[in-house]
Amino acid sequence: MKHPDGPKSPALLQLLQWIANPIGYMEAARERYGDIFTLQFGFDFSPHVFVSNPQAIQQIFTNESKQFSPFSESFYNFVKPFVEGHSILMASGKRHRRKRQLLMPPFHGERVRAYGAQICNITEQVMSHLPQNKPFCVRHAMLDISLKVIFQVVFGLCEGERSERLKQLLCEWLDAVASPIATSQMLLPFLQKDLGAWSPWGYWLRLKKQFSELLYTEIAERRQQSDFSGTDILTLLLQVRDEAGEAMTDEELHDELLTLLAAGHETTAISMTWALLWVHHLPSVGNKLLEELNTLGGSCDPMAIFRLPYLTAVCSEVARIYPVFSLNFPHQVRESVELMGYHLEPGTKVVAHIYLTHHREDLYPEPKQFKPERFLEREFSPYEYLPFGGGIRRCLGAALAQLQIKLVLATILSRYQLVISDSQPLRPQSRLSVLLMPTSGVKMVVTGEAP
Ligand code: HEM
Repeated sequence: MKHPDGPKSPALLQLLQWIANPIGYMEAARERYGDIFTLQFGFDFSPHVFVSNPQAIQQIFTNESKQFSPFSESFYNFVKPFVEGHSILMASGKRHRRKRQLLMPPFHGERVRAYGAQICNITEQVMSHLPQNKPFCVRHAMLDISLKVIFQVVFGLCEGERSERLKQLLCEWLDAVASPIATSQMLLPFLQKDLGAWSPWGYWLRLKKQFSELLYTEIAERRQQSDFSGTDILTLLLQVRDEAGEAMTDEELHDELLTLLAAGHETTAISMTWALLWVHHLPSVGNKLLEELNTLGGSCDPMAIFRLPYLTAVCSEVARIYPVFSLNFPHQVRESVELMGYHLEPGTKVVAHIYLTHHREDLYPEPKQFKPERFLEREFSPYEYLPFGGGIRRCLGAALAQLQIKLVLATILSRYQLVISDSQPLRPQSRLSVLLMPTSGVKMVVTGEAP
């Protein structure tokens, strides 16, 4: 089988180089081999073909039923530690279609917009508790907002003992994933051994178990209450039926809630952190945004805010320059296929590289510069701009995430004056070699209320 060209070094060395510098390594490979190249590691040690060419990405996303299956064993192994067997992330074919049908309606754009006021209130609540004139960690504040949004909007959980315990377990769980040991364990399944509560994997499993128990208790109580007047997503999911009239089981609900949390909490928080940092790092962008917000004449109508063109362009540029997911979930070739002149055999894994596509000079001149105007000057196709992936696995929470990022940014900017306390250049560091987040410890200071 002839793959597109790529580095010839041993697979383990490639993996280690990628873990050490996920962006630099990929940029160097693109520089040397072009828009399509093969690396030997992927999510396991099998060859993975990486693509950053919009025509090739279009071919992949629009031929998922025939040529490119959006599922692969190696990907299952990668996400398995975060989710359970009934998760949409572990489903393929008919099962995946059924899950999308059940889960999509509550996440539909129109439906999600009803949560606007709640998101603005949560933002106010978190921001009002921050100290004045003292540095605070932006990422932690955004994680707090994002968690409260998921707990209220998705789970329908109000403040209370269970909510607090779930939050605490989740924070411990996230801290446990942050370490380089955890990254290695995710990428190398043979390291996933439960050697007791003190071993990293054993500790992780026990946290997950405690979290699950609380979630099952919540689901059981909500079923018993049989009060379906709530507007949260869990209430809606308790009522949905598939084509055969079947409701979701407790296991399905539990596994999907866990998935939504794993997929939606930190991703959105990272994006909001980037957004806040960019508009304060570049005062011209922040000022222009404030001018636009002022045109609303103090209106807090979430929908009016959501539709603002410059705000939309800023949020699009935030997701372009450092997309939270640097690469898309892998596809697997179903039957022999030609891609960019290469013949790919069945089983070959192909990955659309989001960061490399977003940094193409021909699409985005001066790609390393933060320029929201590029999104006002032209439209980009879903194969040129893909922060939420594409095809049948496109992010289920995209509408909720976009709404949240815009409303949080607008609420903070129009109410508070903030400054970045250390004026370092904005650079990404990676989590699990896939997520791109600002370097840790970025601090800001609330200096007062907005004029
Ligand atoms: C800025 C925030 C977010 C980003 C950048 C993001 C990005 C992504 C990407 C790149 C994918 C893979 C798509 C593909 O393979 O083509 C994905 C899938 C997914 N996302 Fe998001 N996401 C975000 C927020 C959310 C939120 C808030 C939720 C829900 C609460 C969510 C739920 C999901 C789910 C369930 C999937 C799997 C869909 C499937 O397998 O059919 N995401 N997301």
